[in-house]
Amino acid sequence: MSDSLTLAFPTLAGLEDVLAAEVRELGAEDVEVGRRVVTARGTMETVYRANLELRTALRVLINIDSFTVNNEQELYDRLRANNWRKYLLPEGTLIVDVVDPGRWFRNTHFIAQLTKDAVVDQFRDKYGTRPGVDKDAPDLRIHLRITGRGETLLSVDSSGDGLHRRGYRRRTGEAPINEVLAAGLLQMAGYTGDQVLVDPMCGSGTFLVEAATLATRRPPGLLREFGFQRWPDFDLPAYSAVRQAALDRIRPAPYPILGSDIDGLAVAVTRATVERAKVDGCVELRQAAFGELAPPSVRNDPDVARLIVTNPPYEMRMETGDIEGFYREIGDTLKSNWAGYTAWLISANPAAVKSVGLRSSRKIPVMNGPVEARFVKYELYRGSKD
Ligand SMILES: C[S@@+](CC[C@H](N)C(=O)[O-])C[C@H]1O[C@@H](n2cnc3c(N)ncnc32)[C@H](O)[C@@H]1O
Repeated sequence: MSDSLTLAFPTLAGLEDVLAAEVRELGAEDVEVGRRVVTARGTMETVYRANLELRTALRVLINIDSFTVNNEQELYDRLRANNWRKYLLPEGTLIVDVVDPGRWFRNTHFIAQLTKDAVVDQFRDKYGTRPGVDKDAPDLRIHLRITGRGETLLSVDSSGDGLHRRGYRRRTGEAPINEVLAAGLLQMAGYTGDQVLVDPMCGSGTFLVEAATLATRRPPGLLREFGFQRWPDFDLPAYSAVRQAALDRIRPAPYPILGSDIDGLAVAVTRATVERAKVDGCVELRQAAFGELAPPSVRNDPDVARLIVTNPPYEMRMETGDIEGFYREIGDTLKSNWAGYTAWLISANPAAVKSVGLRSSRKIPVMNGPVEARFVKYELYRGSKD
């Protein structure tokens, strides 16, 4: 467990600093921020904790070799010389991901095939039987990144399925936001769990679940399994200890988390989702138009900070709908009903955002999947008219 490993945590553009803070919190060393990635050093215990506890990493990669090759044959030979038995049984299954942004090799598909051949040929020679390929649920996911002219970083993916798959999502409402993005935006908005949190247009409830797990210190990975659990050297007692330590840190949510949506189906989906995520005890749900929603009462601490984090529709589906008018109403509602709150809106409709009609104090560019969006902050001072 104590060998020092080189780790890479891919993430979404814009979330690198939030993720670096999370990785430091785990106690990893030499934490560095790259483009859509954070790197660090840690042990296998760090890997277990990272998968279970990180909210803004997409995967946890363990770098097992780095080298430069001049051609495909050299790559094959190098990959075949690596001892794969640590990560895979002869009767296991694998898949290979290849990233080659500089296009050093002609064809990433071919390189993935070559890597797979190098691994399975090693097993065939040693054991007379060879692992197969499984695209959906492989026992081992190998990650090959070509960083320059034949410079190659070889990693194993300890997560298996991407970490945004928390295990709580079934049916989704309209345009659900990625779980990792939701967790990152909440943290960029300053949410630590020690504030009131409202999502008045909650859709399938992603912000609410991510906020509730954060507030309760519930590890986001509790509901799922990870790639490393299928490796032959998986240390179950060590992982159980990591899991138990994380469970011991769970606390009640100290302040209200309120979600609402105008659409009854969205509220029903969210209700089922918060139950699956086991945070139903701390998320309050209502069906209401934003204009009709009353802020939650906070009896225990009237001075606590209050946040709205929400993702309004980007366009209107109804023929009668006027998206700019709708955002104007959002602005009016914020001004008249939500004084004392800090509101953060993520939207990919800049013209509509202008119609909110309030002065924004920050505008952060973010990608919502393939869509360019802005995460916009409004301070709704008590008594302020603008
Ligand atoms: C883009 S979706 C939110 C997606 C959500 N962030 C998620 O991850 O699933 C926008 C939501 O706003 C809701 N909505 C539209 N108009 C509304 C209004 N006036 N009041 C409250 N909710 C509204 C829609 O029903 C929809 O569920």
